Amino acid sequence: MARRRQLYEGKAKILFEGPEPGTLVQYFKDDATAGNGAKKGIITGKGVLNNRISEHLMLRLHEIGVPTHFVRRLNMREQLIREVEIIPLEVVVRNVAAGSLSKRLGIPEGTRLPRSILEYYYKNDSLNDPMVAEEHITAFGWASTADMDDIVALALRINDFLTGLFLGVGITLVDFKLEFGRLWENEDMRLVLADEISPDNCRLWDAKTSEKMDKDRFRRDMGRVEEAYQEVARRLGILPEAGNSDMKGPEVMQ
Ligand SMILES: Nc1ncnc2c1ncn2[C@@H]1O[C@H](COP(=O)(O)OP(=O)(O)O)[C@@H](O)[C@H]1O
Ligand SMILES: [Mg+2]
Repeated sequence: MARRRQLYEGKAKILFEGPEPGTLVQYFKDDATAGNGAKKGIITGKGVLNNRISEHLMLRLHEIGVPTHFVRRLNMREQLIREVEIIPLEVVVRNVAAGSLSKRLGIPEGTRLPRSILEYYYKNDSLNDPMVAEEHITAFGWASTADMDDIVALALRINDFLTGLFLGVGITLVDFKLEFGRLWENEDMRLVLADEISPDNCRLWDAKTSEKMDKDRFRRDMGRVEEAYQEVARRLGILPEAGNSDMKGPEVMQ
């Protein structure tokens, strides 16, 4: 196949020009970063697993009528997506206190929140993705009030659905980050869920033991990072059956 033109290389993924106008190919790398690139590493096989996990979750969301950028998975590390105009916000949904919320507000990790909390961060690496309020978002024109109404409704719906989906496989959805984009169809604009949903941007805890099954294992040097991502995929019932030839280095055949 002809080499695709690379459009953007991010911290965890690469975007290539897609086969048709308005499409992109999203390639999932094994690269892991934390603290906005301050800590760097490789989680072997992460790209393969995140490609699968994100595909699975986006398809389930599509089934309940949540619009997403996902078209289809192409291979182990790539998926075809609709190109959107990304809204420069990280939309964080929290159900249980953890991470920066615990640190900033002194609420112990693991405290169930009285209700789901939405937070917004301005997606800007050079500013370290600062937290912003809806006031900043609308004043600076990153999104309109109508967009924000849609974003809130979608984020809460996604949260309810994914909370149930994960609980069904023994996982607590503690918090997660979403990105949305504008999709233009002639004169009409729709907001759709973009980027990825994976253990890179969700906090997932074993429902019984509270063991962490997400990127916090990398951020906090807890070890068994690959295994945790694999366990999430296994519980979701999507571990590639024949094992992952692309995930590990060569192995000696018996
Ligand atoms: N459907 C889409 N159309 C255009 N851009 C997208 C789409 N989905 C995700 N993106 C963008 O592609 C990039 C994905 O690569 P990633 O490694 O996550 O980058 P970053 O380091 O910027 O977070 C992100 O910047 C994300 O906003
Ligand atoms: Mg990203």
